[in-house]
Amino acid sequence: MVETERAHWGSRIGFILAAAGSAVGLGNIWKFPYITGENGGGAFVLVYLACIAFVGLPIMIAEISLGRATQKSPASAMRSLSPGGGWIGIGWLCILTSVCLLSYYATVAGWALHYCYLAFSGQISGQGPEQLQAAFGSLTATPSLGVAWQLAFMALTVLVVVAGVSHGVERWSRILMPTLAVMLLILLGKAFTLSGFGQGMDFLFGFRADKLTPGGVLEALGHAFFTLSLGMGTMITYGSYLRREDDLVSASVMTSAVDTLVALVASMMLFPIIFTFGLEAGQGPGLLFVTVPIALAQMTGGGLLSIVFFVLLAFAALTSAISMLEVVTAYLMDDWGLSRRRSTVCAGIGIAALGIPATVSTGWFGQIDYYVSNWMLPLGGLGVALFVAWRMDAALRRGAFESGSMLAKFYKGWLWVLKYPVPVAVGLVFLHAVGVL
Ligand code: PFF
Repeated sequence: MVETERAHWGSRIGFILAAAGSAVGLGNIWKFPYITGENGGGAFVLVYLACIAFVGLPIMIAEISLGRATQKSPASAMRSLSPGGGWIGIGWLCILTSVCLLSYYATVAGWALHYCYLAFSGQISGQGPEQLQAAFGSLTATPSLGVAWQLAFMALTVLVVVAGVSHGVERWSRILMPTLAVMLLILLGKAFTLSGFGQGMDFLFGFRADKLTPGGVLEALGHAFFTLSLGMGTMITYGSYLRREDDLVSASVMTSAVDTLVALVASMMLFPIIFTFGLEAGQGPGLLFVTVPIALAQMTGGGLLSIVFFVLLAFAALTSAISMLEVVTAYLMDDWGLSRRRSTVCAGIGIAALGIPATVSTGWFGQIDYYVSNWMLPLGGLGVALFVAWRMDAALRRGAFESGSMLAKFYKGWLWVLKYPVPVAVGLVFLHAVGVL
């Protein structure tokens, strides 16, 4: 009965594109390169890949299974399978995390919109490195400018989510994701011709264990959650719009693979630029917004390329932001009985207001990102893993994994990983973070 009332994806590829649209975002193109730069490259990349394969992917399958089995958003999903239990707290944590994450994600997405404007008005091509470095500095130092772009981005996000699952989220993901892939490949082709290409590759893939710190391991794990959109109910919510016959395991593998590929390609494009132009690899959040314009400004056709690049960056951010807003919208619809329009607008306004401090204060931005990425997401993901592995009804869990799946034979292996290695790995990282280990 529930299934006939609930909205569903229009097609299998639509779900994959929407899930990949959620996963591929600023985390891949902006954040992964800059944290890799801060953590010294090579060894960090390897730890990150291990976190994706052995922790992220199994949890993604768990989240989507939970969503599909219950056809509900995070809190109601927990409540329906474990009435009266404390597990609903995990569902609420997911929703709180969505609110917090989207609040400051919109800050960076607003920067991307500002750079679209700079690119369109010809203020990137032909500029020197100092001017472009100063342009980013003045954006972060002018609160009203940042806030205006952040609010504009939130308004766009609300517009897409109001249109609903298949007409809004799915339709836009179908158009934007393939375009993004083509653009990244063109930029990679450019990077390949730069003199710093070899040095960039060595930084990314050369293994230097001495650079790896325990804090770096925590960051790699946190980022695996961030980049795969785990630990805040997005994949539960998207899974709830899946039909029984869809192969969720293959879809999860595809989504994780696409996401990882985009992060690696984005870095393979950025680090050669950094080494060619003598820029600082560990400069932090401004990395993308300074390095890419510097490179594009010097290339033939750079004016056009910078337009395409920043438009696509903004779109990648949009397909991720809609998935975050969808979590809160689905919660307000499922649990409060509000209409889609009202839920989306209320959530959008509240989150936009909460995001203003992150836009005007870099200190607050850094703090909230630290807690969300390194604490709240892993905790939410761990909660879902424990719930699905230890609390969810075994037949329901098996049905959710196996129905429509070409990879049904991996059920036992997946369950084992989810039961033991995943909680132990996430637990150890936490214990280290609180100073016990
Ligand atoms: N995965 C997105 C990115 O890499 O930019 C960010 C994100 C989206 C995180 C949705 C969490 C989420 F639920």
